[in-house]
Amino acid sequence: MAEINGYIVKLGGSVITIKDKKYKTDKETLCRIADYLRISKPLVIIHGGGSYGHYVVFSIIQEKTKVEDVDLPRISHTMDKLNHEVVQCLLKKGIPAVSFPPHSICQVINGSIVCSLETVKEAVTRGLIPVLYGDSILSSNGIEIVSGDILMVLAANELGIKRLYFLTDVDGLYEDLETKKIVRHLMVSKNKQLHLDIRGSSAIDVTGGMRAKIESLRNLIPGARAYILNGRKEDHLYKALIKGENPSTLIEVSE
Ligand SMILES: Nc1ncnc2c1ncn2[C@@H]1O[C@H](COP(=O)(O)OP(=O)(O)OP(=O)(O)O)[C@@H](O)[C@H]1O
Ligand SMILES: [Mg+2]
Repeated sequence: MAEINGYIVKLGGSVITIKDKKYKTDKETLCRIADYLRISKPLVIIHGGGSYGHYVVFSIIQEKTKVEDVDLPRISHTMDKLNHEVVQCLLKKGIPAVSFPPHSICQVINGSIVCSLETVKEAVTRGLIPVLYGDSILSSNGIEIVSGDILMVLAANELGIKRLYFLTDVDGLYEDLETKKIVRHLMVSKNKQLHLDIRGSSAIDVTGGMRAKIESLRNLIPGARAYILNGRKEDHLYKALIKGENPSTLIEVSE
């Protein structure tokens, strides 16, 4: 698809929920972020699972080692609840947000996640802001968990969006977890392995945390720019979303 001006944002579950409290939204942070989104108008919003999605999947795996078809309704319903809170807050701020539950538009076909994004695209052209989220989806051999990070890459590539913001609970990508020195600029590409101390998440996590996030960015269309920032810091939100600057980490995708 032809490139379009504008950006896509992921509200990390690490920011919009309280990571160590099961099924607890951080409404204050969520609604503060919405103030910035109202002004800067993203094309699409995606949110992660946080203490909803990660917790429900983790408890299912603990009960019976793997997720199955029968678990899809429970996982999706749990994520629906978080999505309801996100959309409610966005609407309150006057943002024309509309949900597109991934379990109803995506499935895994021959090992690849395929989403029907025609209606999402149409909604964007009408000035609406589609909201997708990490979810469980059908696959030929059961169900799979699709993270908000993967959906960011899929939607950006499909819609031709080249500017992506990932709001997380850390100040950017750390060079290593000891010094926590922030990587200001990183080039990634499909063909180049990453050699950084990037790990999963410090919380309960079923989609690979920061490592999987950065790995997934390698599949973006070349020329795309992804920013990792702290969604709890107003100076990060202001610099990135309002001023178009890099407050923390910029990841550029090359051929
Ligand atoms: N090199 C690194 N730099 C920064 N964070 C890292 C690094 N390695 C691991 N992490 C961990 O990754 C976490 C962020 O990933 P996490 O998946 O928890 O957040 P998220 O993607 O915003 O949430 P969700 O998956 O619920 O949407 C940080 O809180 C940190 O603990
Ligand atoms: Mg994550």
